[in-house]
Amino acid sequence: MVLYFSATGNTRFLATELAKKLDDECIDLLDRIKKNDLSEICSERPFIICTPVYVCEMPRFLSKYLRNVKLSGSRKVYFIADSAGYGGITGYLAKKLFRRKKMEFMGYSEVVMPRNYFISHYPPQTNDEIKSRLIRACRQLCEIAETVKKSEKLRARYVFMFEKLITIPFNPVWSKYKMSAKEFFADSKCVSCGKCAKVCPLNNISITDSKPIWGNSCTHCMACIGNCPTGAIEYGTVTREKGRYNFKDYKHLISGNTASSGINNSSAVQSARRRKNG
Ligand SMILES: Cc1cc2nc3c(=O)[nH]c(=O)nc-3n(C[C@H](O)[C@H](O)[C@H](O)COP(=O)(O)O)c2cc1C
Ligand code: SF4
Ligand code: SF4
Repeated sequence: MVLYFSATGNTRFLATELAKKLDDECIDLLDRIKKNDLSEICSERPFIICTPVYVCEMPRFLSKYLRNVKLSGSRKVYFIADSAGYGGITGYLAKKLFRRKKMEFMGYSEVVMPRNYFISHYPPQTNDEIKSRLIRACRQLCEIAETVKKSEKLRARYVFMFEKLITIPFNPVWSKYKMSAKEFFADSKCVSCGKCAKVCPLNNISITDSKPIWGNSCTHCMACIGNCPTGAIEYGTVTREKGRYNFKDYKHLISGNTASSGINNSSAVQSARRRKNG
């Protein structure tokens, strides 16, 4: 059984594709996380957990959820983390978490996907970069599926001690001081649909007087801004310059025969602007 959380669609794509290849069930954990629904999840086949990487580890709300939810049936668990290039100590921490749950850790894979954290200092990615990442990820998914089918362990890179020494103390400080929702706002394009509130894993958004209001608990997952159907949400002035990311806007780059999908060199920003302007 594949279980996943995804803010802007990358992990959803990987999880659902993997489930299709394995002819297995796939569950989006968002609603369970939002409701803190810890009811038992049972699978006779190995669990496969798919997650994005946030600041070198899995999202903390997800690790909290996985620590507490009862996973019954199979005792085997695979772990897949997708990042924009550096998975940090995600696999190491996942291994510890599942060992504490007395599960057999069947290994970990890091998949590089397009960067969804568009408010970071990195320049926007071009469509070509996004396409090549997606193609590589699709190939890797096939290898992962084959490994799981054979009940073999996934192999990941070695995590060095210095990575643990840097990430473990750094992460809470970064999260506390850098991940604030203060800069989010919705402009006149907001149609009060409530989607931003619905997709927020931390229930940090309420719709008041037909407009979203952001609270103080935010993990910068980018679900609200990345899923607004009208492009109404901005983050300070950064998003006006850099656009925003959602996997569905790039899925066409790998649909059917990728060699004939008609890619051009326009940047993700231009693509985001086109979407924004309807
Ligand atoms: C808050 C936040 C922190 C992130 N930290 C990292 C990171 O440490 N390393 C990295 O390579 N990518 C990082 N990313 C990028 C995401 O892991 C990556 O784009 C992922 O595929 C997004 O998955 P999703 O679309 O399923 O939400 C971060 C993204 C966010 C939103
Ligand atoms: S998702 Fe966008 S349009 Fe819908 S309520 Fe939120 S800001 Fe408004
Ligand atoms: S408010 Fe923060 S935690 Fe909630 S969806 Fe938006 S970025 Fe994610």
